[in-house]
Amino acid sequence: MLFSAVIRTASQTQHTEAENSTFMSDLLGGRLGVDAYARYTEQLWFVYQALESPAHTAALAAHPVTAPFLRPELLRLPALERDLDHLLPAGWQHRAHPLPATVAYTARIAETARDWPAGYVAHHYTRYLGDLSGGQVIRGIAEKTWGFTRKGDGVRFYVFDAIGNPAAFKRDYRGWLDALPLDDLEKQRVVDECRGAFALNTRLFADLGRAFPLSA
Ligand code: HEM
Repeated sequence: MLFSAVIRTASQTQHTEAENSTFMSDLLGGRLGVDAYARYTEQLWFVYQALESPAHTAALAAHPVTAPFLRPELLRLPALERDLDHLLPAGWQHRAHPLPATVAYTARIAETARDWPAGYVAHHYTRYLGDLSGGQVIRGIAEKTWGFTRKGDGVRFYVFDAIGNPAAFKRDYRGWLDALPLDDLEKQRVVDECRGAFALNTRLFADLGRAFPLSA
């Protein structure tokens, strides 16, 4: 089986779990206030700072395992910052603070970015391919629920302006996964890290769920 299929199949259960978390279900069901969405977006700001930190990505862009994945058209930080400028009062950068799950998540990303390029690929895949896929569902719901302009401020994180054809891009991405120069043991470790990355997202949703319980 191609590695892209292995990694997708191996993380399916965790994907369903993340998708069905209380926080995501409430968000997708349009039951949460825009404050919950803003807090979630703020947490993503920390996650993408870890993923896109120039301190690490410069070396990763030159590494044979990670080089194909580090594409400027994927970068999400500028879009996240525009969304947060729209969602939160000015000066949000100084007030933002990571939830405990976000601290654990960003620490793990930073660790792989520093010490284990193949492990970083697991985190890269879990976020960016997800943003290009289910992220589009979240964008549609957010636009409808809180009245953001279609593909405008508030949901720019989900809009990949520099990627003309997301389906073609995802096909290419799977090709880069399939071409990873790793032996079977290392590929198994990457799959395990990917499951861990999903679990960290589920933990984040649990923290957010506790912060925004439905009053009903
Ligand atoms: C709650 C909302 C979510 C929905 C509705 C959703 C929906 C989807 C859908 C429909 C696909 C298939 C796209 C395709 O085949 O091209 C997909 C793929 C994916 N999703 Fe999600 N998803 C959600 C949450 C998440 C979360 C929280 C993560 C992880 C952080 C994630 C990561 C992924 C990944 C990595 C893929 C690519 C799988 C592959 O083809 O290899 N998703 N998602």
